[in-house]
Order: sequence, then structure tokens, then C-alpha cells
Amino acid sequence: MHCKLIGIPLQDGASQLGCEMGPSALRVAGLAAALADLGHEVSDLGNLSPPPTRDVAHGNSAVRNLPEIVAWTELLADVAYRESGEGMPIFLGGDHALSAGTVAGVARRAADKGRPLFVLWLDAHTDLHTLTSTESGNLHGVPVAYFTGQPGFDGTFPPLVAPVDAANVCMIGIRSVDPAERATLSKADITIHDMRSIDEHGVAALLRSFLERVTDANGLLHVSLDVDFLDPAVAPAVGTTVPGGATFREAHLVMEMLHDSGLVSSLDLVELNPFLDERGRTATLLVDLTASLMGRKVLDRPTRSF
Ligand code: ARG
Ligand code: MN
Ligand code: MN
Ligand code: MN
Repeated sequence: MHCKLIGIPLQDGASQLGCEMGPSALRVAGLAAALADLGHEVSDLGNLSPPPTRDVAHGNSAVRNLPEIVAWTELLADVAYRESGEGMPIFLGGDHALSAGTVAGVARRAADKGRPLFVLWLDAHTDLHTLTSTESGNLHGVPVAYFTGQPGFDGTFPPLVAPVDAANVCMIGIRSVDPAERATLSKADITIHDMRSIDEHGVAALLRSFLERVTDANGLLHVSLDVDFLDPAVAPAVGTTVPGGATFREAHLVMEMLHDSGLVSSLDLVELNPFLDERGRTATLLVDLTASLMGRKVLDRPTRSF
């Protein structure tokens, strides 16, 4: 596989500074070498430059850095569309606001190919606020509402060429949902597995049923991995830690199953805040998880697709 690393030094969607350094930390932790060791061709396309902004405003005065996030979303939708034509783009964040653009771009590509896009959202949060409902004003809390075409983004964010069908979104790891997000969830058709669901059923069963749906639909699969999906004990380098997250082993199992499925066509690695890390352990874990997703394994196993 041709892996394309695309650095996105974005931190304007988060309240804490530091995600801007995420792409560098992932490089220092050896992402390119880990992928090359697995036999992949790797191109590091470098970091995107912050795009120029124009005046955009919204009635909700809590909203922070709207012109910056709108400009990044426009840029990223173009870049993600372009780079998903061939090979596998890996978007190195940067805060989770970047997924508004990356998912919009890969969804447009999937539509060109006549295939449905599915999104696996690995996160403590649903990131399902609209510009109206966000109380924190941090726009890393809105990308899912945007790319699934929820109302309220017109006149600010770029129009979506191909909205993602909410029924094609599966969230795993959820343990922090705001009241307004809960209301949207009850209307939208998103599949959502909270930590209780993982505890009751095991993450493998939850993921397997989603992957079967993607396979049956001949879909493309975008994976969006927020560092706070992981338990803060193993992944401290994130500004929005929530206790009780996915373990090291659960996260690797998810990645290994994704590899075996052969379905993943693009990946976001987001919310890494190197300023909050401990001797690079979170960046290193993200590199190891990406390696599992791209084929690193302990033993060969008898064939079973996933
Ligand atoms: N729901 C909270 C908010 O809107 C937290 C969002 C956290 N999102 C993230 N991508 N870390 O502020
Ligand atoms: Mn998130
Ligand atoms: Mn999160
Ligand atoms: Mn494998």
C-alpha cells in the first residue's frame, strides 16, 4: 500500500494549545519507518500551511476560531479528495476539527467511485455539536454533525459535495456526551457503542458487525482515531482525557481486525498533544496502533477475514 502522511498542524479547534505539534511528534516516534518496515511505500507530504482566513461569523458568540476552522475545512476537503485518488492518506493531526475536512474530502472521492463511505469514529466523545449547540465553542466538538449534513452549517462551513449517511457512522469508546448531542443522536441513525457496550459484549463483536455491514455494502472505510478513545493511563497526551477508556489491548485488537478486514481506505490520527505527553509514550502508542492497522502482527493466523 502507498501510505501518504499529511501533517495538519491545527489546534484552533481545541481549548488547549499543543496539537499543532502532533504531526512532528508522530514523525519523531517513527511513523514512516514503522510503515516502511511492513513493506509499504511511504510518502511524507510534509505539513500543510495554515490557510488564509476571511471574515465568517455565527450567531453563537461562544464559537471560537471560526474563520480558521472554516479555512482549514475548505483546504482539507480539497487535499483529502485529491490524495484519496490513489493510496492511503494518513492525516496527522492536529485537533479533531480537521475531520470535518478530511471526511468531507474522502466522502466526495467515494461518491465519485460510486461506493458508500463508512466512518469508524474511535473517541470518548461524539463530536456531534452544531455551531448553535456548542457551549464550549471548541470546534473539535462539531465535525460529525457537519459531515453527516446536520443543519446549521450553511453560510459558514463549505457546502458538502457528498454528506456521509449517518447510518454509515459507527462510534466506539464513547463516554462523554453533552445533552444537545444526545438529542441529535436520538434522531440520527448513528451506531454508537459506549464503554458499557464494550464491557458487556467485547469490542471484537461490536466491530465485527460493523465491518460486516461495510463489506456487504462494498463500502470504503475511513477511520478517525482520537487519542482520548484510549484510557488516559496509556495515552496521557490529550487535552480532553476521560477516565475509563479503551485499553492498550482493546485498541490493538481493533486495529488488527481493521487490518484483516482490508476495508480501511483513509485514517485520521488526531488530538495528540505532545506538550502533555510523557517521554513520547502516547505518540509511540499511536505509531504502534497504526502499524497494527497496517499489518503488523505477532503470529500469522488461519484465514478468517475479521
Ligand atoms: N463535547 C465537548 C465539547 O463540545 C468535548 C468535545 C471534545 N472533542 C474532541 N474532539 N476532543 O466541548
Ligand atoms: Mn474527538
Ligand atoms: Mn474526544
Ligand atoms: Mn492482521
